[in-house]
Amino acid sequence: MTTYSEEIKLVARPGEISFSKGLDGIIAAESTKSYVDGLGGRLVYHGHPIEELAQESSFEEVFFLLLYDRLPTAAELRRFSTQMQQEREIPDEVYALLRDHAARPGVHPMTVLRTAVSALAVYDAQAEVDTPEVHQAQAIQITSKMATIAAAIGRVRAGQPRVPPRRDLSHAANYFYMMGGRPPDEFEARLMDVLLILHADHESNASTFAALVVKSTMADMYSAVVAGLAALKGPLHGGANEQVMKMLASIGTADRVAPWLDEAMAQKKKIMGFGHRVYKTMDPRATILRGYAREVTRRAGTERWLEMAELIEKTMVGKFGQKGIWPNVDFFSGVVMASLGIDPAMFTPLFAVGRSAGWVAHAWEQRQDNRLFRPRFVYVGPESEPYVPLAERK
Ligand code: CMC
Repeated sequence: MTTYSEEIKLVARPGEISFSKGLDGIIAAESTKSYVDGLGGRLVYHGHPIEELAQESSFEEVFFLLLYDRLPTAAELRRFSTQMQQEREIPDEVYALLRDHAARPGVHPMTVLRTAVSALAVYDAQAEVDTPEVHQAQAIQITSKMATIAAAIGRVRAGQPRVPPRRDLSHAANYFYMMGGRPPDEFEARLMDVLLILHADHESNASTFAALVVKSTMADMYSAVVAGLAALKGPLHGGANEQVMKMLASIGTADRVAPWLDEAMAQKKKIMGFGHRVYKTMDPRATILRGYAREVTRRAGTERWLEMAELIEKTMVGKFGQKGIWPNVDFFSGVVMASLGIDPAMFTPLFAVGRSAGWVAHAWEQRQDNRLFRPRFVYVGPESEPYVPLAERK
């Protein structure tokens, strides 16, 4: 029989092996969904460069591509879009819950979104049914309803009445409509699609990985998505976009960028919206969003945010570009979303509305060829400790 201490030795003891902190560079699975070329600054969804999809595609089409690994025919896209439209409504009980939670001061919208998506499972009679048909239906239901929930949370926070979904608009246009109470114009509708497309998937990012770990236990689709939401919330991941806007607000004006950055660098602060585990050059999504930022800030009269952002970019790239620290997707998305009139606290929920497509697509892929995720830790605790009776402990 292997003893406790031999078992420890079987893995490794401190110093005996090296391991990859944060799973840096570790390949955890095979996937057909997306590919990040970190040195070349390229992102590809199932063979399609992100630039092409941002230019030509819609969120519905990209979601279909991620789920089924091919572009839809016109008839398939129509059917898929109709299916998504039919799933927009959320149960009244879920609305009542999010209304109560979102109205409470100090509660972050991602906390409410996470809770409301979890509650959706309660009202899905098939939540525990484990068949391919049900999984695919849930993938569409959850992604469709995520936009309705996120928009409703924003309305409650702003003290505005709920805007029920419309079935005649695209997913992106309807999300914009439910957030602001008016349908988008052509430019805004395109930009919303682009935002959701750019956020839809990103290989083995922290939230997708969290969703896969949960799915690998054969838990239901809702649990996997809730895990994704929980991981996305953090400021090192999806929460960075909100922090970028907070940073711009606290800097205030372009002439204050240089002294603010000097101080931040002196304090060795991490600048939100910069750096990436995989990209060691410009994140292609940031390039696309910088392009849109020009037009959307001009329309909204928010050019000063872009001016400040570009000054920060210039200094950061000049100083840290060689080290591989460049703007990531969250850097310019804040400027773009704020110029669309979106409250910074609702930036990460928008990220989630897009990324839901990736979570459910990867969860579906995981389920088809599943193996439990169960890595090891290097044990660095004591090998043997005496058990001192409670009464004798100091
Ligand atoms: N500003 C200044 N220095 C940085 C930054 C930054 N934003 N990011 C990394 N570094 C430095 C870091 O200080 C460290 O320097 P040193 O080697 O001298 O100690 C080095 O770069 C490596 O940093 P790390 O944190 O170990 O790298 P990582 O691969 O673990 O982190 C990251 C990736 C995204 C967590 C990190 O770059 C970061 O915290 N960025 C700010 C938060 C952010 O923008 N997150 C969004 C990520 S992209 C979209 C998404 O996933 O949501």
